[in-house]
Amino acid sequence: MSASFSIHASTGSYEVRVAAGSLTETLAQQAHAYLLVDAFFRDTLGKALQQTFFLAAEEREKSLDRMPLLIEQMRAAGVHRRTVLTAIGGGVIQDIAAFASSVYMRGLRWAYVPTTVLAMVDSCIGGKSSINVGPYKNLVGTFHPPEQIWIDPAVAETLPRDQFASGLIEAAKICFCRGEEAFSTHMAAGPSTTMSTAALEAVIINSLQAKKYFIEIDEFDQKERLLLNFGHTFGHAIEGASHYAIPHGIAVGVGILCSLAFQRERGLSFTNMERIAIFEKHLREMVMSLPGIREHLAALSIDDVMERFASDKKHTGHQFTLILVNQAGEVVLEQIDKNKQTSQAVRHAIETTRESYTR
Ligand SMILES: NC(=O)c1ccc[n+]([C@@H]2O[C@H](COP(=O)([O-])OP(=O)(O)OC[C@H]3O[C@@H](n4cnc5c(N)ncnc54)[C@H](O)[C@@H]3O)[C@@H](O)[C@H]2O)c1
Ligand SMILES: [Zn+2]
Repeated sequence: MSASFSIHASTGSYEVRVAAGSLTETLAQQAHAYLLVDAFFRDTLGKALQQTFFLAAEEREKSLDRMPLLIEQMRAAGVHRRTVLTAIGGGVIQDIAAFASSVYMRGLRWAYVPTTVLAMVDSCIGGKSSINVGPYKNLVGTFHPPEQIWIDPAVAETLPRDQFASGLIEAAKICFCRGEEAFSTHMAAGPSTTMSTAALEAVIINSLQAKKYFIEIDEFDQKERLLLNFGHTFGHAIEGASHYAIPHGIAVGVGILCSLAFQRERGLSFTNMERIAIFEKHLREMVMSLPGIREHLAALSIDDVMERFASDKKHTGHQFTLILVNQAGEVVLEQIDKNKQTSQAVRHAIETTRESYTR
């Protein structure tokens, strides 16, 4: 079950191809390209590639102060305005490649081979680059989509389980936000860290098709695309308070459970309960199946989570900006007054969600 489709963006359309086992063929076509590759692949791909620059997929590499060195290396290697840069790696390598190619000589074309589940199901499309500045994560960035994306789901087979699960949770979130059909297709593929490559391929195609809807209707994050931040205000707070011991997608999964608990704290009862129950059960099973997460959740300081929750950059002076599920089971953006009652409901939602894991 391979697939090809295009994404329409203001800068032009770009192509996505998903095909298990396609990496060798993709690399053969890149023999003369300038490549930015995750150092994880040095031993397996190094010999097959020329003009390759290996980078460690670490947050500190993805920072503004590392850019001059990379740009100098590109210049010294003879990268010119018509060079097409090819990036091979997860979200870190993607962000570095997208950013560098958006500014180098005012913009290079680039192509991308995502290698993590998160990058395959989510970040590879949408065109964003995000770069860290000092202690601030993803503070600066650009919109600069690659012109080709080649996905080989078999490449994800070597990923650690928590990284694999992290990507699957983001895919479940995208599909849930898109609606009934996308979500039931996702669940029917049997998402789990032991799923087959063929099933992962189906998950990737469905998730990218669902995300395509949001990024084409709202390329620059003004309205509909914001809904994909579902679970992220709670999630980022949990991820940060765990000092990044809890991987991003897992923290988002817990964040989604917190946001549902928060709505119940506010007295909401969901009318479309079956879909929500399936989603909650799935997230719980995914999170519970991973070693160490229970302990990291138990070790969280709730005050720290609360502080991080309150400092989310989407909030305004008097209101929290949250993506929540409304009574009808739809994902919506809500502005909620900051007051004692709301803060208590937030705290309670985090505490009860955590208790349900550590009991
Ligand atoms: N630009 C966007 O739209 C966007 C969206 C989401 C996330 N991000 C960014 O992406 C980053 C996270 O990316 P990620 O989760 O894809 O992972 P990553 O790039 O951080 O990689 C995680 C780890 O997996 C390793 N790895 C990569 N592919 C592998 C494979 N096939 N087998 C074994 N190990 C492999 C890497 O070397 C690294 O150690 C964050 O910096 C985040 O801010 C960007
Ligand atoms: Zn995310």
